[in-house]
Amino acid sequence: MEKARHLRHLLASGRLIRAAGAHDGLGAVLVEEAGFDAVWASSFEVSAARALPDASLLTMTEYLQAAVHLDRVCSLPVIADCDTGFGNALNVAHMVTEYEAAGIAGVCMEDKTFPKVNSFAARGQDLADTAEFAHKVRVARNTARGDDFLVIARTEAFIAGFGVETVLERAHAYVDAGADAILVHSKGTAPDQILAFLKKWRSPVPVVAVPTTYSSWHACDAHAAGVSMLIYANHGLRAKVAATRHVLEAISAHGSSAGIEPDITSMKEIFALQRLDEWIALNP
Ligand code: SPV
Ligand code: MG
Repeated sequence: MEKARHLRHLLASGRLIRAAGAHDGLGAVLVEEAGFDAVWASSFEVSAARALPDASLLTMTEYLQAAVHLDRVCSLPVIADCDTGFGNALNVAHMVTEYEAAGIAGVCMEDKTFPKVNSFAARGQDLADTAEFAHKVRVARNTARGDDFLVIARTEAFIAGFGVETVLERAHAYVDAGADAILVHSKGTAPDQILAFLKKWRSPVPVVAVPTTYSSWHACDAHAAGVSMLIYANHGLRAKVAATRHVLEAISAHGSSAGIEPDITSMKEIFALQRLDEWIALNP
């Protein structure tokens, strides 16, 4: 579990860890190339890449396979977004066994009920019972064979409309159950909820934030406020959609790709990302 150990050391070092989302191997390679510390196997990205909603439609095996695809082609640790843990505490135990055995550095579970819907969907969210979710966290921690495997507990209490006291209460319950880090999710357009939480957070357990809607929060400011890890959860996928649309619409409109050739990555560069030369060298 080299990667899990590396991630654990990074977290203990006190420096800010930055992760970025991916849904396939190429995305993971690009995350590494850009200098991030870890790859987030995003449930939103993995679902969206199949043009499916992030609504607990895919199975654990499908998410695990996607996470493995990221892990195998880059040297960064992969943190797998495991939604609600794919069921009850038994499912969580099975999940941790499988993800850890596959070389994934850690998992993140959120305190919503199954089936979940993406946190930014324009609808209400149902939170799991605090004690029930804490039990899942405890089972996850106890199931992991290695101490380095990371169990991140994510609270959706702000997303569900609750205040900071509820978020704190839940976060403490998850820490008591053995969580290695607490992800506090927020859909605010400014980091106010995260800041309100951090102001009252006395635990040494590191805090993770996902600055999707409060995108102007600079990493340095987040770190200074007490955030240990930032996850840029879906920017690669959103960039890909914007760029692909632009290029395909241009070809469709102009009848050739000549005009946009300078805008798109060359085949040579893709060969490099595929490490084609290294593969060819295996059979010269
Ligand atoms: C994901 O990337 O799948 C996440 C983050 O869980 S969010 O989409 O913000 O819920
Ligand atoms: Mg997700």
